Amino acid sequence: MERVVGGMGPLVLGGVGLLVMYYVMQKLRFKNRVQDSVVVITGASSGLGKECARVFHAAGARLILCGRNQTRLQELVQELGKTTNSKIKTYTPHTVTFDLSNTDTVAAAGEQILKCYGHVDVLINNAGISYRGNIMDTHVSVQRDVMETNYFGPVALTQAILPSMVQRHSGHIVAISSVQGRMAIPYRSAYAASKHATQAYFDCLRAEVERFGLQVTVISPGYIRTNLSLNAVTGDGSRYGVMDKTTAAGRDPVEVAYSVLRAVNQRQKEVLLAGPLPTVAVYLRTLWPALFFKLMASRARKEQRLKEE
Ligand SMILES: NC(=O)c1ccc[n+]([C@@H]2O[C@H](COP(=O)([O-])OP(=O)(O)OC[C@H]3O[C@@H](n4cnc5c(N)ncnc54)[C@H](OP(=O)(O)O)[C@@H]3O)[C@@H](O)[C@H]2O)c1
Repeated sequence: MERVVGGMGPLVLGGVGLLVMYYVMQKLRFKNRVQDSVVVITGASSGLGKECARVFHAAGARLILCGRNQTRLQELVQELGKTTNSKIKTYTPHTVTFDLSNTDTVAAAGEQILKCYGHVDVLINNAGISYRGNIMDTHVSVQRDVMETNYFGPVALTQAILPSMVQRHSGHIVAISSVQGRMAIPYRSAYAASKHATQAYFDCLRAEVERFGLQVTVISPGYIRTNLSLNAVTGDGSRYGVMDKTTAAGRDPVEVAYSVLRAVNQRQKEVLLAGPLPTVAVYLRTLWPALFFKLMASRARKEQRLKEE
């Protein structure tokens, strides 16, 4: 009997060890790294950015909200001021207004952002614009404009904030890309190109700043229920103004905002937030490109037929 009990010692110890490990892993998994952190969110006046503002505010972040429309940002600040949480200390957000497509002014905006708290812990490059159009009817200036907002703007802002993160050996940069940064679908050329460029830039950045202890996350969502398609530009630069069925049936932006928070807390390097079909398409693009090209050509023909009907 004594021998049996004695033999169980290592087993019990092992079990306790596993339980402790599980507990520590859970703690790390759900650690709130955002409490008291300085978090910058671009495009906070609408859609996903606005939901991120609500979610990060509730998690105790010291927010700096960015957008072009000061009135809408101020309305959000007032709304957030009314939300109280007895368990988590919350802060009144700052706002910084600037146009990301005017890259010459972005460095100055970066300075203004840094002045709010003296540093930035998390930069969420969320602002963006979409595009709908046929390449043959699209002005090159429209291709360039989408690139300015979705690519050069976030690049300029990142580079304005980066030196201070490098100096502090601390910081997390998040890029809200898209599934269309992983595979290109027809009639979205400007948007898909800007998101592919975003993916490439932030992948390079991740590798280059790892030695300073900085984190880089690229989040690639599928459709989200926001005003993105309404605000999209067309080939001649005019507003598309249509709520696409795909966008209307997209993910709830609150759910996506929680995924952004989780990605920051868990320091995830990339997140693909897509249903089974787009996920398969992303892998098909790499593993079986010939089939992917056939499927995209057939999709383009179908969309063209629908437009002509
Ligand atoms: N909705 C989707 O289906 C979907 C899917 C995948 C990825 N995404 C990405 O999610 C991000 C957020 O988009 P959303 O869906 O929330 O769209 P949204 O509701 O149209 O919001 C876009 C935000 O970007 C800001 N913005 C646009 N152009 C700007 C500029 N030149 N300078 C500064 N801010 C500018 C807008 O601010 P203003 O108030 O100044 O206009 C607005 O706050 C985008 O990067 C988008 O590509 C969206």
